[in-house]
Amino acid sequence: MKAIILCAGKGTRLRPLTFTNAKQLIPVANKPVILYSIEKILAAGISEIGMIVNPENESAFREILGDGSNFGAHLEYIVQERPMGLAHAVKLSKNFISGEKFLMYLGDNMIQEDLSKFVNNFSESDLNASILLTPVEDPSRFGIAVVNGGSIVRVVEKPQDPPSNLAIIGVYLFDASIFEGIDNIKPSWRGELEITDAIQYLISHGRKIQGHVVYGWWKDAGRPADLLEANRRVLANLKNSRKLGTINGGTIMEGYVVIEKGAEIVDSIIRGPIIVGEGALIINSYLGPYTSVGPKVTIENSEIENSILLENSTIRDVEVRIDSSIIGKNATVSSIETKPKVHNLVIGDYSLIRLS
Ligand code: G1P
Repeated sequence: MKAIILCAGKGTRLRPLTFTNAKQLIPVANKPVILYSIEKILAAGISEIGMIVNPENESAFREILGDGSNFGAHLEYIVQERPMGLAHAVKLSKNFISGEKFLMYLGDNMIQEDLSKFVNNFSESDLNASILLTPVEDPSRFGIAVVNGGSIVRVVEKPQDPPSNLAIIGVYLFDASIFEGIDNIKPSWRGELEITDAIQYLISHGRKIQGHVVYGWWKDAGRPADLLEANRRVLANLKNSRKLGTINGGTIMEGYVVIEKGAEIVDSIIRGPIIVGEGALIINSYLGPYTSVGPKVTIENSEIENSILLENSTIRDVEVRIDSSIIGKNATVSSIETKPKVHNLVIGDYSLIRLS
């Protein structure tokens, strides 16, 4: 079986981070979100993966993931020129899929579920589709399925009056009949070919669609708070410490802590679970639980916890503890000694700064 991962979305809710990075390439615990998805797919025995990207983010994906051989995958890139919908992306992948059954995965999903059983059951069955569902509190934000005896009898995209609370979470298995569904639908009110509509077409034409309900943790890492939660989840799973960097005698460490090679910790308190990337420099600072410090980050005379700091950012002499924050690549947060006391800011478009 092959898989396609859809990564062509614009990531508007994660601006400004997504001005310079695809949302699926933003790191959680120092690893791009997309790699967690690829690992799940590989663990289910699928290594041929089509990456659906857009013209703006294609080169970043190629640079970070390459052809996938570093992590045992074979990646092919398929460019979706314009955001014309999930079903349109599937249609573009038709040649790559070449008539086989396939897995479709929305690239910003993070799930706990092991996919092996889901994939194996489908490949041995005569089902036309099988779709992962999970109960949610806010069903009008998602595609929603109505299930009867294990079969999906109706799907509807972001209903105002939801007929159930079972959301389509973005992991689907299809056989080639989905292409027939896609060829018979029209763009929705948002101008996109919706995969949900193609699935409804199959249901209306007597195809067999299974709903596979899961209850584990799932996150569509589309908003800053989602990324921070995903970061907490991944770090909470640390099972041991790894200290490859240099840690001086004046430093106190508690809990599980990963200090990558070339990182240097001087006279600081490091309270895990935490990861500190290669070449980072931490001086006279407090790093609290659930913090991911990217490569070459500098933190000096400051306190920070429950946060994600991307590569080469700097935090220096900040008096108030930084909490629940995402600091972009090469960004600097520091204090200045001036009279009168002022805030002096150079902030990118769509940034969010909350001062206490
Ligand atoms: C898409 C799907 C929707 C699904 C959701 C999961 O919505 O259209 O059915 O529930 O992903 O994240 P979108 O993120 O494109 O609004």
